[in-house]
Amino acid sequence: MKVLVVGGGGREHALVWKLTRSPTVSKIYCAPGNGGIRELAVCLDLDATDIHGLFDFATGNSIDLTVVGPEVPLSMGIVDLFEQKGLRVFGASRGAAQIESSKAFSKDLMKKYRIPTSYYRVFDSPDEAVSYIRETGAPTVVKADGLAAGKGVIICHTVEEAEDAVKMIMVDKLFGDAGERLIVEEFLEGEEASFLAFADGKTVLPMASSQDHKPAYDNDQGPNTGGMGAYSPAPVVTEELHRRIMQDVMIPTVQGMAAEGRPYKGILYAGLMMTADGPKVLEFNARFGDPEAQPILPRMENDLLPVLEACIDGTLDRISLTWKKEASVCVVIAAGGYPGRYEKGTPIGGLEEAASEDGVMVFHAGTALENGKIVSAGGRVLGVTALGPTVREAIEKAYRAVGKISFPGSHFRKDIGMKALKREESA
Ligand code: AMP
Ligand code: GLY
Repeated sequence: MKVLVVGGGGREHALVWKLTRSPTVSKIYCAPGNGGIRELAVCLDLDATDIHGLFDFATGNSIDLTVVGPEVPLSMGIVDLFEQKGLRVFGASRGAAQIESSKAFSKDLMKKYRIPTSYYRVFDSPDEAVSYIRETGAPTVVKADGLAAGKGVIICHTVEEAEDAVKMIMVDKLFGDAGERLIVEEFLEGEEASFLAFADGKTVLPMASSQDHKPAYDNDQGPNTGGMGAYSPAPVVTEELHRRIMQDVMIPTVQGMAAEGRPYKGILYAGLMMTADGPKVLEFNARFGDPEAQPILPRMENDLLPVLEACIDGTLDRISLTWKKEASVCVVIAAGGYPGRYEKGTPIGGLEEAASEDGVMVFHAGTALENGKIVSAGGRVLGVTALGPTVREAIEKAYRAVGKISFPGSHFRKDIGMKALKREESA
């Protein structure tokens, strides 16, 4: 089978790597891919958002299956376009992807189907938002309604900060059209976890749990990023909580989407806060997490291809997933300055040495091949991922590999996996 993977980040490198292990996959293309993906797939000079260009490529090259990584092409309707023309494609339709592309849609859905989440109000006028904030007080959370590359959420410790956030989103339009509407919601306390599942419109098949590390610096300090590292499983999600998340969140969401006439096929990703009152949804994503895919996929024992096909065909009830017992940890190495301004084109050394230890995978995110050398080409540059018999060993192995990589100006968090370690060792 010929497969086309859409995207070019660490998540897509992990997807391509996993698909190379599938006996039925004969050739993989990736658009646009990156410096690491090109060792496994033919990279195309096509942007992930050029959905018509991707469609022409898929028809012209007899692609059997297209797998969509990022949210933007999903929200643009890539799946609808391919399906209308009879092409097989894995991902959420445009209507289903609204669960991520409109926070107002997603909050209203949760309210209607009684899916646990924080209290909220949606506003399309800054004045009304500000008077609501003055009434309800701080701490509070202000969110742009639309897609903002993970940056449209502002945690506000005071009423003044929340007023500034409203101004930034609605008046200064920092996130463009994503800020036409905004959400003000209750601040939730607890530990976060990511819960991802495959869905075929009816059946929900959960993956192993994971945890992201969004803030840029150690001890969750500094500005939010796309994610500085992740591990799987997340011990905060006990077996009992796993059952509750399936019963209270994942199943009612897929049922609710079907009832709304937006059958949910693809990946449903719930970002959860484990509060004293149980798990509550912070957000939904319509795709694999990045970096969560990097630690999750190496733990998956199944061939990925039949699982993706079952989502498309509505036969997920015939599949069961098995996971390696080992823990997996991914440490992101970012370019100097990220998540602010950063340089590109910095040469990266030590990549082969880093990947030489058994159970280490160096997934590339923002890299490119220039004159035969791998150089940085994005903010999050690499996702160094390691499997180990315990979380401690996986952490040690991942950081040993990180230590072999030389990349001027780079930075990475030194505490990836520490929350899991604390839980595991106090259990
Ligand atoms: P989101 O993109 O909606 O997941 O938000 C990004 C991050 O902001 C989350 O991972 C949380 O760390 C934080 N966050 C979002 N909503 C809330 C909330 N209601 N209470 C506390 N933290 C939140
Ligand atoms: N890791 C967060 C995300 O993929 O949105």
